Amino acid sequence: ELSVILYLIGTYILASIPFGYVVGKLFGKDVTKEGSGNIGATNVTRTIGKKAGALVLILDMLKGYFPVYFGKHYMYFDDRILSMIAITAVLGHCFSVFMKFKGGKGVATGLGVLLALSGKTAFIVILLWLGSFLTTGYVSFASIFAAFMSWIIIFYVEDNVFYTFAALFLSFIIVLKHSSNINRLIKGTESRFLHR
Ligand code: G3P
Repeated sequence: ELSVILYLIGTYILASIPFGYVVGKLFGKDVTKEGSGNIGATNVTRTIGKKAGALVLILDMLKGYFPVYFGKHYMYFDDRILSMIAITAVLGHCFSVFMKFKGGKGVATGLGVLLALSGKTAFIVILLWLGSFLTTGYVSFASIFAAFMSWIIIFYVEDNVFYTFAALFLSFIIVLKHSSNINRLIKGTESRFLHR
């Protein structure tokens, strides 16, 4: 259906907006050339500061949350289409049309779509993220772990095959996007956010 295709294209373009890069530029920095080189909230916090990082976290979450929420409550799309919107939003962030199809690692935008699909699941995933972050001190480890758990949790909470598939697909992309972090974690050279 045309309206669905247009909605997906709109979602992709919106989610392609690299807020981390834009906020970085506002502070006179190119975050792709500093720290981990990632455009996510973690690297913005690392290279600029907590307030800028928090702003990027919220904006990156919103660009995932909004298209799914609006599609659910105002367009009355079914679960299959909502799952496609969720996947499209994270793909937009990770393979941005404005960044030569490079982009972020999908954690904040993934959390945003999860919040709109299943608030309960998002709540549990946030707790798991916090727990693993506080015990290991690694943002990347917490993100990989939380992403991997998300599809199992949404399966139990919502019992919805489309949502489960979306979460499974998204955790695959998020883990893939963390390959350099995984290499550093194995080598023991990943930068800790919490020094312990
Ligand atoms: O969300 C990204 C985070 O898990 C890792 O970011 O900058 O340490 O690669 P970074």
